[in-house]
Amino acid sequence: MTEPEPAPAVIQLLPPEAASNPSLVSEITTLVNQVYIEAEGDFFVEPRLRKLLRTNPAQVTEYIQLHGVYTATHSGHIIGCIKLQIEDPEDQAGNARVGHLGLFAISSSQRRSGLGRRLVEVVEQDARLRGCHIMELEILTPKEGGHVFKDFLKVWYSKMGYRPVRNEELADALPFLVPDITRPSHLVIYQKHLVGKGLVY
Ligand SMILES: CC(C)(COP(=O)(O)OP(=O)(O)OC[C@H]1O[C@@H](n2cnc3c(N)ncnc32)[C@H](O)[C@@H]1OP(=O)(O)O)[C@@H](O)C(=O)NCCC(=O)NCCS
Repeated sequence: MTEPEPAPAVIQLLPPEAASNPSLVSEITTLVNQVYIEAEGDFFVEPRLRKLLRTNPAQVTEYIQLHGVYTATHSGHIIGCIKLQIEDPEDQAGNARVGHLGLFAISSSQRRSGLGRRLVEVVEQDARLRGCHIMELEILTPKEGGHVFKDFLKVWYSKMGYRPVRNEELADALPFLVPDITRPSHLVIYQKHLVGKGLVY
């Protein structure tokens, strides 16, 4: 007899009221900080690493209230999350409305099950429905040489249809990080054009 498939994770866009649930906010904050320390902790000098937190409860609270935070939950635990932030409607210069992905993390014990792909697809679809033509994200990337995780991410996002479009200097984008960076790095901005109807779910 074959084993039954485990139930898939439940993905939901948190309602703004979720921002006043401290244990939920704390669970998301802990997940994101854990995952980012594993993924890019080696970009920062040791004292910074100990203090470095990718996010904090106040920021997560603000993201839930003002933007959109999606969680993937399984057996009562949050095992993934992602944020969608949408810029103002088309500006006067006619630039297309852009959605930004961020705070994207899948618990390390839950990787490679397709959950990261599902979360990105759900967010892309919501962005399309809200009039976005472009989805954008940034990856902290060393200016020279490889990095096992960043190289993986490059391939991962390219399979998802994202292409690098420009680089931003850390000194301009996140100047407070510069003193604590262990290697010359910049932000590589990736974009994907959200055409067609996309995923139906
Ligand atoms: C990037 C990340 C979200 C991917 O999540 P995930 O749930 O493991 O990814 P998925 O299972 O949806 O992967 C989809 C594809 O990538 C492949 N893949 C996933 N992890 C892989 C790995 N370590 N090596 C090779 N391929 C991998 C899967 O096999 C799958 O390929 P397929 O569609 O051809 O079968 C996750 O690795 C993560 O949380 N990383 C740390 C935080 C981070 O870097 N966030 C992004 C910052 S911009």
